Amino acid sequence: SVERNDTLNPLTRELPQRVSDRIRDIVGERGILTDPADTAPYLSDWRGAYKGKAALVVRPASTAEVSGVLALCHQEGIPVVTQGGNTGLCGGSMPDASGRQIVLSLNRLNRIRNIDAANDTLVAEAGCILADVQNAAREVGRLFPLSMGSEGSCTIGGNLATNAGGIAVLRYGNMRDLTLGIEVVLPDGRIWDGLRGLRKDNTGYDLKHLFIGSEGSLGVITAAVLKLYPLPTEKAVAFAALPSPEAAIELFKHLRSLCGPRLTGFELMSRMSLDFVLRHMAGCTDPMAEPHPWYLLIELTDSSPTANLRELIETGLMGPLEDGQVLDAVIAADEAQAAALWKLREGISEAQNFEGPSIKHDISVPVSSIPGFIDKASAALSNEIPGIRLVCYGHVGDGNLHFNLSKPPDSENADFRAQAGRIGRVVYDVVAQFTGSISAEHGLGQSKRQDIVRYKSDLELELMRSIKGLLDPKAIMNPGKVLPD
Ligand code: FAD
Ligand code: MLT
Ligand code: ZN
Repeated sequence: SVERNDTLNPLTRELPQRVSDRIRDIVGERGILTDPADTAPYLSDWRGAYKGKAALVVRPASTAEVSGVLALCHQEGIPVVTQGGNTGLCGGSMPDASGRQIVLSLNRLNRIRNIDAANDTLVAEAGCILADVQNAAREVGRLFPLSMGSEGSCTIGGNLATNAGGIAVLRYGNMRDLTLGIEVVLPDGRIWDGLRGLRKDNTGYDLKHLFIGSEGSLGVITAAVLKLYPLPTEKAVAFAALPSPEAAIELFKHLRSLCGPRLTGFELMSRMSLDFVLRHMAGCTDPMAEPHPWYLLIELTDSSPTANLRELIETGLMGPLEDGQVLDAVIAADEAQAAALWKLREGISEAQNFEGPSIKHDISVPVSSIPGFIDKASAALSNEIPGIRLVCYGHVGDGNLHFNLSKPPDSENADFRAQAGRIGRVVYDVVAQFTGSISAEHGLGQSKRQDIVRYKSDLELELMRSIKGLLDPKAIMNPGKVLPD
């Protein structure tokens, strides 16, 4: 039973007074938000796809404060939803509608603790914004390569908790590959200091990998040792039009052989995706005179001043242009043009929002199966919902497609949303035929957790539940996320 506290803001009524007082003692006045105007941004996502209520929004400013809050929540059995930049795309950072859960925002835990240029490492707290970490690395002549459309708002903690991917995975890997060590507060408040900046460490199970990708369900990541790389000094960006996804995969094989690790970005997008960007994103224009069915955004990078990447990409595109595998191509002449071409790709997510509700499918299949998957899934969906708009794009060099859908223009929003489960199953069954994954980089959150029952083995699910039970026996960490009921 819960004691009522009518003297506090209505939000906190689900919490006993003595508990909110103790949280206030731990994090101080600045560490608690109760005014609805202040808490609103923590209780819905930017797409308006998820909404929740919270007993409190708590903003600790140190690992010790996170530890104090979790120890108390563990003792009292209070559920905790950890939140970074709240840019996630599957509802993982959103509390449920009960009003009993606490949102633990890490946005005040945002210091860069250390940069070791000789070891090529940077230690960042979980609430650091990704773009700030990229800038801090750049200031010492290094690259932190994780990069994505949300980098101005998402946090290192969220990137770790979702094992984020983005636009440079092809060359540098995803967040798991970019992390050497982490600091975690366990659900009972104990602090695991795993902040080791070692590239070799075979002393038993690699525990950091349990927490990376766990979407706030096993503990709170408070800091990480991140890998840095030489800063690229040379870059070439091209935008190519293609007749088909088959042609895109042929070009991928060709450019990989020709350019090796210099091939850093290889992003496919359909004409529908580009149309949305041209329609809704200010300052975007079609770089080509006529429309084409598919496009690729290709980026080469290198740190050697002798590399002539423009010449390399021209050579790479010449043969395919002659034999019709590439229909047209433009190569950025300078940084401003390169940024304009990237905006055509990175603007898709936001642009799609202007077209009404969207249903996102963040899937992966072997790179060689991308054309087959697009064919089969498109046919299956067009049968299922006539007029549905396929907004298909993604990091195809990693086998990752955002097979997103927008409703038929003349249909009702609510009707379309109501079909998300059924439509998801149509898409995911095709993914399964290609031994793919129903979440390549965004995670399961609340939107896909039930789906995994159909696509993971009983043994895999049992192992996941055992790990959860071991680390979070009272199940206070992000209930209703990741694991199916
Ligand atoms: P949140 O949304 O706040 O949280 C995400 C999950 O992590 C939740 O389950 C939350 O509980 C948990 N969590 C957050 N912080 C912690 C912590 N410190 N400890 C434990 N758990 C925690 N994602 C990609 O992978 N690749 C992309 O290319 C990409 N592009 C995007 C483009 C746009 C325009 C947008 C809006 C999003 C994009 N995303 C992409 C999704 C999103 O930005 C990433 O998932 C990002 O890693 C989430 O970070 P966040 O700080 O916003 O986390
Ligand atoms: C992207 O790569 O743009 C995002 O991960 C995809 C999305 O918003 O669906
Ligand atoms: Zn993506």
